[in-house]
Amino acid sequence: MPRYFCENCGFTDKLDKNLYFCPNCGDPLTITYSDDELEVNFSGSGVWRYSGVLPVDPNKKVSLKEGNTPLYKSLHLGSGVKGLYIKNEGMNPTGSFKDRGMTVAITRAIEKNFKSVICASTGNTSASLAIYAARAGIRGYVVVPDGAVALGKMAQARAAGAHIIKVRGNFDLALQMVKDFARKSDEAYLVNSVNPFRIEGQKTVAYEIVEEIGAPDWITIPVGNAGNITALWKGLNEMKRLGKIKYLPKLLGVQASGASPIVKAFNDSSNKIEPVVSPNTLATAIKIGNPASWRRALKAVRESRGAMIEVSDDHIVQAQYLLSSREGIFVEPASAASVAGFLSALQNGLIRKEDTVVSIVTGNGLKDPDSVSRFESIEITVGSEEGLLHSVIAQ
Ligand code: F0G
Repeated sequence: MPRYFCENCGFTDKLDKNLYFCPNCGDPLTITYSDDELEVNFSGSGVWRYSGVLPVDPNKKVSLKEGNTPLYKSLHLGSGVKGLYIKNEGMNPTGSFKDRGMTVAITRAIEKNFKSVICASTGNTSASLAIYAARAGIRGYVVVPDGAVALGKMAQARAAGAHIIKVRGNFDLALQMVKDFARKSDEAYLVNSVNPFRIEGQKTVAYEIVEEIGAPDWITIPVGNAGNITALWKGLNEMKRLGKIKYLPKLLGVQASGASPIVKAFNDSSNKIEPVVSPNTLATAIKIGNPASWRRALKAVRESRGAMIEVSDDHIVQAQYLLSSREGIFVEPASAASVAGFLSALQNGLIRKEDTVVSIVTGNGLKDPDSVSRFESIEITVGSEEGLLHSVIAQ
């Protein structure tokens, strides 16, 4: 049977309990499988295509058909490499990659008879939690930093009828609060990415990439609380164990300059992070100073022989505009960090021209409509005078 496993200290336990953190060292737990438990018979599409490698009962699934997101070949931004592919996770049911993990975590909540689920969130997790809790007919509680969540994400949580708890403070404080709650109470199931079932769902992005194009040389991914890079690396390793790929891609984890404690630890070859007390970036989804899964992220990039890099807010905005105006892919700022990271790594020679690269973009542009006010758009207002439109368009 799959088991809980602590990658830091080696603790293991059976899956029948509801654990999030290692009782010995406090790190978030992972779920492991022995070789004969990894099942290769994939059928159907999306996250549940991989139900043989998901530790929940697929007959109880709470699903809105997540996963199976498009992988686009870049037309312009990838001209400096052999191939750049963009995996658009913004095409998931609630517009972000969180749905891959949420469908599995909410299914687990139902299996365990929880009537409520809770998370701390910079926005996308709360949108996903709210919608999946609604689908499952259970109560959703979202704890968010007051005034620091993009409009579209709040709209989704409200529309789905979640209980919204606004914290006077940042995401790191909100996460601390829900962790403290989960330590003392079993009243609500915690579905942040410290929940190992979330990671299981999110690893399927790696399965999809590999099934479509095999192993690229690099995969770039934005990093906030560091759950998603943990999941990506887990999925890639499982695909290698299954014999679907011969080598593992290098990971490029990208943080925003104002919220980059893992980049600093990577550059300093350190084995611990110094949390950023007041993280700051316009990419609010990844405005996180004390990422819960930092240790697993560092381990993943080091094992892959990849890197952690940071990108400035200006570069994020530029990449966001280039993606929408040159590639037709409209993403939110945190997602654009992935592509800004690719461009920066190409420029400094880390990524080379013979490389094949996949950039994972994590959230839809509609999530954060205010962010486009930073672009210079071409807008005029006209009356109905005859010939006016013709003269404007001919210019
Ligand atoms: N991109 C987007 C659009 C996100 O919403 C997040 C995280 C990330 C990237 C980073 O992923 O945290 O697994 O490293 N959003 C979380 C939330 C924190 O609450 O919605 P990570």
